Amino acid sequence: MTKNSKDLLLENLKSSILNDKICPELESQATQLVFGMGNSDADLVFIGEAPGKKEDESGKPFVGASGKLLDELLSVIGLRRSDIYITNIVKYRPPKNRDPSELEKQAFLPYLKKQLEIISPKIVITLGRHSMNCFLPKRKISEVHGSPEVVDGITYLPLYHPAAALYNGSMRQTLIDDFQKIPELISQ
Ligand code: URA
Repeated sequence: MTKNSKDLLLENLKSSILNDKICPELESQATQLVFGMGNSDADLVFIGEAPGKKEDESGKPFVGASGKLLDELLSVIGLRRSDIYITNIVKYRPPKNRDPSELEKQAFLPYLKKQLEIISPKIVITLGRHSMNCFLPKRKISEVHGSPEVVDGITYLPLYHPAAALYNGSMRQTLIDDFQKIPELISQ
């Protein structure tokens, strides 16, 4: 599929999330839908948890403090935002940045799966346990971070959420070490 047709399909998917009113409660409290951004033809798709305040205001994922750290981690392996695609499981900001509920995650999951199907990346990188458990249920992030796993032909790489490393130096190093596994995975 060409990049143009992927972009078109993603636009249609975004419209269906808006039309289907899948999470009216979250929608009514959020400023806007944060659908995802980046290269629709990327080898890597990163999946976070849900938009925060800055993301809600801008309509773009990972533009706050976690996003800045994510950019630094990407630069460690020579990548930029324009090389990847990034989105969240839940696409409206939960009030006061609370964790998304199971129901909210399940409501968005079919759309997220469709989004992945359109982009069809080589690797899906989950950031944090919420994102990981949508695809790899019952795993513990402390046990499986940095270890790729193939499920139904899709390679998942579970990583810690950058927010966990913002004020924790050793976690930051763990994330750097895990990020350094990405180039080899892409080249396989
Ligand atoms: N944290 C997330 O999980 N997603 C964002 O978009 C921003 C912060």
